[in-house]
Amino acid sequence: MEKKRILTGDRPTGRLHIGHYFGSLINRVKLQDQYETYILVADVQALTDNFNQPEKVRKNVRELVIDYLSCGIDPEKSTIYIQSMIPETAELTVYYSNLVTIARLQRNPTVKTEIAQKKDLFGESVTYGFLGYPVSQAADITVLGGEIVPAGEDQEPLIEQCREIVRKFNSIYGEVLKEPEIYLSKNKRIKGLDGNEKMGKSLGNAIYLSDSEEEITKKIMSAITDPNRIKKDDLGNPSICMVSYYHKLFSSEEECKQVCEECRQGKRGCVACKKQLAKNTIEFLRPMREKRAYLEAHPEIIEKVLKEGTAKAKKEAEITMKKIKEAMKLNYFE
Ligand code: TRP
Ligand code: SF4
Repeated sequence: MEKKRILTGDRPTGRLHIGHYFGSLINRVKLQDQYETYILVADVQALTDNFNQPEKVRKNVRELVIDYLSCGIDPEKSTIYIQSMIPETAELTVYYSNLVTIARLQRNPTVKTEIAQKKDLFGESVTYGFLGYPVSQAADITVLGGEIVPAGEDQEPLIEQCREIVRKFNSIYGEVLKEPEIYLSKNKRIKGLDGNEKMGKSLGNAIYLSDSEEEITKKIMSAITDPNRIKKDDLGNPSICMVSYYHKLFSSEEECKQVCEECRQGKRGCVACKKQLAKNTIEFLRPMREKRAYLEAHPEIIEKVLKEGTAKAKKEAEITMKKIKEAMKLNYFE
């Protein structure tokens, strides 16, 4: 049986952190063996809220791919490509824009939340491009025949929007498109070093896959611990401590048990506890850091992965687009 096709991707707006790693990257690394995987570097989508910072987007295309390869995404198994190099997507976005109303986009919960967060950029009135990015995302998915989209809950309204567009298209022009399904990540979101529910660049509470040993140590030493603990022999509560929370991600089960027990009994100093965590985190991320250093020294590898991936995706998109234009009676001169 043919493998089903996965389509997923990220906006290239910054380096990836351990929240991304445990949230989506681990899944992608696993799924690339079971599915035919396409991963797009969504530079066009990144521009919808970074149109005034083109150099930032460009720089992060490369960074994103380095992060992908460093954490185990294998270009032999996953096709990684640049969204803007597939102009069929832009073309299809125009056709899809007839199949979706402005009111529907304005009601999209993900878009709504993001607009509220981007008041600085958009002021009181959002751009046409940003409001319409779910339409362009529907084009990303369908132009490559994506059947499964592994993503977090925040992407659910976008996939639903895509499904609606597909149904509408097929009902008008004929059954050409596949309705994609979301593959919801069961991994729970990783909290920030400060205890914030979300880890993110703007919050300054993230550990990046690319952080140096010194940076990791420094960040962990500043993590929020049980605030009621002042002296080493004060009885602690590890369940309200971010250090204990991260021990569960990076330390062995045995160590975690010991951390909790000793903390509760007031037999463990926070400084030592953090140092132990820093050491384990550094070890955990070491293979990724080494791979990253290698890739940084060999930019031609990244170039080749992107070139080959993009060429493959482009061919696929051309095939889909031909079918779409036939269905829409736009196949002139044939
Ligand atoms: N919306 C995704 C993000 O915020 C990026 C993205 C663009 C995407 N096109 C996609 C994800 C298609 C899955 C499928 O990072
Ligand atoms: Fe947190 Fe460790 Fe201090 Fe307990 S001993 S409060 S787990 S840092």
